[in-house]
Amino acid sequence: MSNEFSFMQQGFPVFSGENALSLLEELLNAPNDFSKMLVLCDDNTYEHCLPILKRHLPSSIPFDFFKMKSGESSKSLSVCESIWQKMTAMMMSRNDLLINLGGGVVCDVGGFVAATYLRGISFLNIPTSVMGMVDAGLGGKNGIDLNHHKNRIGSFAFPIATVCDPVFLKTLPDAEWKNGCAEVFKHALIGDARLFETLSVDGCTRANFTSLLHSIQGVKLKVVEDDPFEDGFRKVLNFGHTVGHAIESASLKKDSLPLSHGEAVAMGMIIENEIMFNIGGLDASIKNNCREVLEKHLTEVKITSYTDVELLEWIQYDKKNANGIIRMSLITSIGSCSWNVEVPQEIIRTTLQNFR
Ligand SMILES: NC(=O)c1ccc[n+]([C@@H]2O[C@H](COP(=O)([O-])OP(=O)(O)OC[C@H]3O[C@@H](n4cnc5c(N)ncnc54)[C@H](O)[C@@H]3O)[C@@H](O)[C@H]2O)c1
Repeated sequence: MSNEFSFMQQGFPVFSGENALSLLEELLNAPNDFSKMLVLCDDNTYEHCLPILKRHLPSSIPFDFFKMKSGESSKSLSVCESIWQKMTAMMMSRNDLLINLGGGVVCDVGGFVAATYLRGISFLNIPTSVMGMVDAGLGGKNGIDLNHHKNRIGSFAFPIATVCDPVFLKTLPDAEWKNGCAEVFKHALIGDARLFETLSVDGCTRANFTSLLHSIQGVKLKVVEDDPFEDGFRKVLNFGHTVGHAIESASLKKDSLPLSHGEAVAMGMIIENEIMFNIGGLDASIKNNCREVLEKHLTEVKITSYTDVELLEWIQYDKKNANGIIRMSLITSIGSCSWNVEVPQEIIRTTLQNFR
């Protein structure tokens, strides 16, 4: 198994690449002693991914599945409760395993359900979307939403392994592909200048994704290794997300066809670079180069339906702020990022005005 090994997260392995699924048999058998398994999937991964997974599960361990509705609305307490009920009906014990087969939503819900059932049982992440493979399936954060507050309830809990096999991506819709690619560019910008160079030319495509997967995951996993419980440095992963979340929230409220998370984060990265430039922390040439690349491969900035005042209000809700001071994670050069950067509201407002 060791030759397929890529990274560790809190002592647990991450396996990624062509045929990673073939490691499951060995991974799930000895020394583990799982007596049964529950596979959590959503409507789409039930249809497209479960048939593939089934071929790789060891026949010695019985399994059942739970299918939830696809989409963010499943990150709810009522869905968790239905899964806990199912686990109880199956008489699942601490010797058993939950397998999360899906995108970020399945990994987030499943990680939380496993971390809390019987005060914590083992779970395995098998991400099936780009977002899941490069971000949500790694790093041990899980959670659900509370009303419109994203990820308000959750925990840190690490899977016994994360197994990323690009075979699943064949059925991932293009829009979801693009969504995940925003996080790929973000990882490069905060931690890997060479990766950014490659992405600048080729983009993040179905053709090059598998060959870049280790580098992309490496950025997040190195950050998580240094700061697993987000005491400080891990906040760099929020680059693009302070402004991005504000745009996403405003768009959800006002646009008839809301922007995707990926589009909002791409715009967030462009605008946050402008903010960093305006406070003297980023060279104009880097800022301009990033904008060109992100606009070419992801999206242009389109924030005409909301005012700078509205966006600033959303920014003030951001969890990184403290005592009314707005703090952001901002890149200082390509591949290097600062966190807890205090940004005056006036700079944010004037920067946003210049994008309208
Ligand atoms: N915990 C973390 O560290 C972390 C990090 C980033 C994002 N997230 C969370 O991840 C979620 C977004 O993840 P996402 O973009 O993967 O969304 P998602 O899980 O909703 O998946 C997107 C869509 O693609 C479908 N899909 C997934 N894999 C497929 C496949 N192989 N074939 C066909 N369809 C497939 C899903 O059913 C869904 O309709 C958000 O809730 C976000 O908060 C968590």
